[in-house]
Amino acid sequence: MAASGPRLGRSVELTIDSLGARGDGIARLGAATVFVPFTVPGERVRALIEAKRGDGYAAVVEEWIARDAARPAPACPAFGACGGCAWQHLPAPVYAAVKRDLLIAALHRQKLRPGDAFAVEATRISPAAARRRVRFAGLRSRAGVRLGLHPRAGHDVLDLAQCPVAAPGIAALLDPCRRVAATLDALQPGRKPAAFQVAVTLADGGADVTWTLPQTPGLADRERLARFAAEQDLARVSWRARAADEDRPGAAEPVTQRRPPVIAFGPASVELPPDAFLQATREGEAAIRDAVLAAVAAAPRGPAADLFAGCGTLALPLAAERAVHAVDGDAAAIAALDAAARRTQRIRLTTERRDLALRPLTAGELGRFVAAVFDPPRAGAMAQARELARSKVATVVAVSCDPASLARDLRLLVDGGYAIERVVPIDQFLWSPRVEAVAVLRRR
Ligand SMILES: C[S@@+](CC[C@H](N)C(=O)[O-])C[C@H]1O[C@@H](n2cnc3c(N)ncnc32)[C@H](O)[C@@H]1O
Repeated sequence: MAASGPRLGRSVELTIDSLGARGDGIARLGAATVFVPFTVPGERVRALIEAKRGDGYAAVVEEWIARDAARPAPACPAFGACGGCAWQHLPAPVYAAVKRDLLIAALHRQKLRPGDAFAVEATRISPAAARRRVRFAGLRSRAGVRLGLHPRAGHDVLDLAQCPVAAPGIAALLDPCRRVAATLDALQPGRKPAAFQVAVTLADGGADVTWTLPQTPGLADRERLARFAAEQDLARVSWRARAADEDRPGAAEPVTQRRPPVIAFGPASVELPPDAFLQATREGEAAIRDAVLAAVAAAPRGPAADLFAGCGTLALPLAAERAVHAVDGDAAAIAALDAAARRTQRIRLTTERRDLALRPLTAGELGRFVAAVFDPPRAGAMAQARELARSKVATVVAVSCDPASLARDLRLLVDGGYAIERVVPIDQFLWSPRVEAVAVLRRR
């Protein structure tokens, strides 16, 4: 227990046993758990106990007693300070195993044990410089503009000159964005710095840049943003107001569109709404799509549902094979998907805007589908998974960006009579502790 654990400010010798869900090394000190960042399992360190953290303690390395000789040099000069990456120091085999292990640990917590019944396969890892969607944080103070990512702790902004996980076309926009931010009236700093965000998505038609600003941009700002779009040859620049709740941002309004920011999903080309959801890397999207298509191809003939379908990453390739009903709560995403489907021949797709947390498709409504794919946000799809568990759908495919909510939803499905066939870990957020997955289930 923490109460009888180590004293704050003390140096202790620790052996790192494993890596935790937030990326830190985990060591035991008596009954206490100690979290030590930037360590590798098996390393022995002298560490300073700095603070309590949950039921355990946070410590920092003072000295390596036994350091892993296979540690690679970090790819980024900001590694250690930047909150974006926690694992650039892991030797390749450790890195390859760790995300799969996090997924397995989450499954174990729900008493779902890979083994004879199903396998958790090797992680499909996206390469460096592959992220095609990044949201940078910015601050303009009287001292100047900082643009980059949040540091490991706190809400400050770490000014980044480069970002090795981002596609070169995104990293190259850091400096131009900083320059235009310094000129915007909407970012005039008062006594406090003006906080903003810049979200960049690389579409097939060029970069789509959405600014989140504390004030409505006036005509002069709109002209500055339009000039910036022309100078950088961007597809579109939009702006949106800063929302009180960052998880519920308001709609973005285009300032200038020079080309439609389109993206191809299977046979169709979708014009993305500003700051639309897009799988973070092409490689990750391909790994998810391949696993979903293979799972649904093995289902009996008949229609499929794609729940939390977004702009159609999965629904459109599926709709080239069989009739698909795509559902999402986001009006702009559903409108973009619907428009793409209407423009495309030889696909069978219907769409529906619906809040699947408040009003999941019921077991009765699911009765007409032989397969259902669901790809919810981080919180998972508890209400929808309950209905799927009561349904007769032959094949269910869960796509998830959060192992804990995925395992909880899978537990509901297994209790409802589904058997897990395979789980594929997907790594789109290189060097971060995030892991995504596709799980295929068949009704027993
Ligand atoms: C992880 S994205 C997946 C989108 C799509 N499957 C893809 O691969 O591009 C999650 C989607 O869930 C949608 N969503 C979030 N909450 C929702 C809700 N309560 N009801 C319906 N859709 C929701 C979002 O609009 C988003 O499109």
